[in-house]
Amino acid sequence: MAGKKFHLGYFTKFGPPAWQATDSRTDGSDWSNGRYFVDLARRLDAACLDFLFFEDTLSVSEAVGGSRELDLKYAIYAPKSDPIPLLPLLAHNTTGLGLIATCSTTFYPPWHVARLFSTVDGLTGGRVGFNVVTTSETTSAQNFGLDRMPTHSDRYAMAAEFLDVVNGLWEGWEEGAVLQDVETNTYVDATKVRALDHVGEYFRTRGPLNSPRSPQGRPLIAQAGGSDRGRDFASKYADLILAGAYGGPDEMKAFRDDVQQRVRAHGRNPDEVRVMFLTAVHFSDRPGATVSDLTSDAKFEALVVQNASELDLDLSRFDPDGPFPMDLEPGGHTSVYDGMKLLGAQGMTFREVISTVGVGGSWQPIGTPEAIADELIEVMEHIGGDGVMLLANDVGDDAFITNVTERLAPALQRAGAMQTAYAPGTLRDKLLSF
Ligand SMILES: Cc1cc2nc3c(=O)[nH]c(=O)nc-3n(C[C@H](O)[C@H](O)[C@H](O)COP(=O)(O)O)c2cc1C
Repeated sequence: MAGKKFHLGYFTKFGPPAWQATDSRTDGSDWSNGRYFVDLARRLDAACLDFLFFEDTLSVSEAVGGSRELDLKYAIYAPKSDPIPLLPLLAHNTTGLGLIATCSTTFYPPWHVARLFSTVDGLTGGRVGFNVVTTSETTSAQNFGLDRMPTHSDRYAMAAEFLDVVNGLWEGWEEGAVLQDVETNTYVDATKVRALDHVGEYFRTRGPLNSPRSPQGRPLIAQAGGSDRGRDFASKYADLILAGAYGGPDEMKAFRDDVQQRVRAHGRNPDEVRVMFLTAVHFSDRPGATVSDLTSDAKFEALVVQNASELDLDLSRFDPDGPFPMDLEPGGHTSVYDGMKLLGAQGMTFREVISTVGVGGSWQPIGTPEAIADELIEVMEHIGGDGVMLLANDVGDDAFITNVTERLAPALQRAGAMQTAYAPGTLRDKLLSF
């Protein structure tokens, strides 16, 4: 029996959803009209998953050999559409599922983003989350008028000021500001709407927003910084902290303990923050299968593209069967490289490290949905963790979704490890209800 309920999220992108799946790789091939995602959201909602999460990036990657060819061939960074307009469509077809979309603090003006998420929070009845990213790729910087990305440290400094601004703008509309009082002919009480008058190092904005306070007031903030700087940023601002499952359950436990301590150091209560791990699960009936066995040459090449883009480093020059390079200087996700080095230090080859880390981390449960449910329960008990987010951004064929919604989730529910109904209230209320 499970000790405590934990949360289950589903990680995808608004792009080809199954191109790396084992069988039905063209499932959802008409993804851009949104119907695949409406169907997915309905199935996750019926199974009572906590949220559907959309990653996002802002360029066609050229990280491998300076060419777009492999990115487009394997549909990794592109094609991909903006997930934010999709969320209201999903909300109107579901009952309690949280809907989280990614947006970059490095390229968009904070006033625009505050208004956009406020609008979408209204359209989803308070079920929206904003996954805050600082973006990693040089090609993305070049789409926004820069030659290269600002440094890692500058990106986080910008992100902190950005969050101060969006929070200030959201708070600019007090609860109860909208009166709609026919007697006094007053729609809004002007004393409850304040300007921000922010003049900072990176942003200037006057405010207030012209959109009203949204159901959550402040849409849920998710963040996945893994470096020292990133963890500190997430601990200060995020309601939901996400991490790759690098190094296995002991490292994951250490990560959670570390961010909880940082949350306390920022004067916040760790009970008001959830820490969840992005986890690649492999549904397989083959006894003893390993992640490397399940990684075909094409899948390996696709993973090289994905990781090269994330690290903003050309990884194509390394011998797959040679040692893993331990002295690179990634421009992008520094914590992904740190996770890889943990495995390289154990003697894994380049191919083994890339196959094992993939994008989800080195803890990757393999087996039947019921066996995976047991493993998730065991690991969550060990970590004291708040849950896992299933990595499905390119393996979401019909069989995968069925395994999640009709076998994995019910197995967790039978064991008392997962909710069987949604708690009332907003996405934040639901996530904090256990
Ligand atoms: C679960 C998870 C989801 C992420 N989603 C995105 C994303 O959608 N877009 C993006 O540019 N980066 C994404 N990232 C990258 C992080 O936002 C962050 O840049 C990365 O983990 C590196 O952080 P660090 O430099 O603090 O180590 C994600 C990372 C994780 C672990």
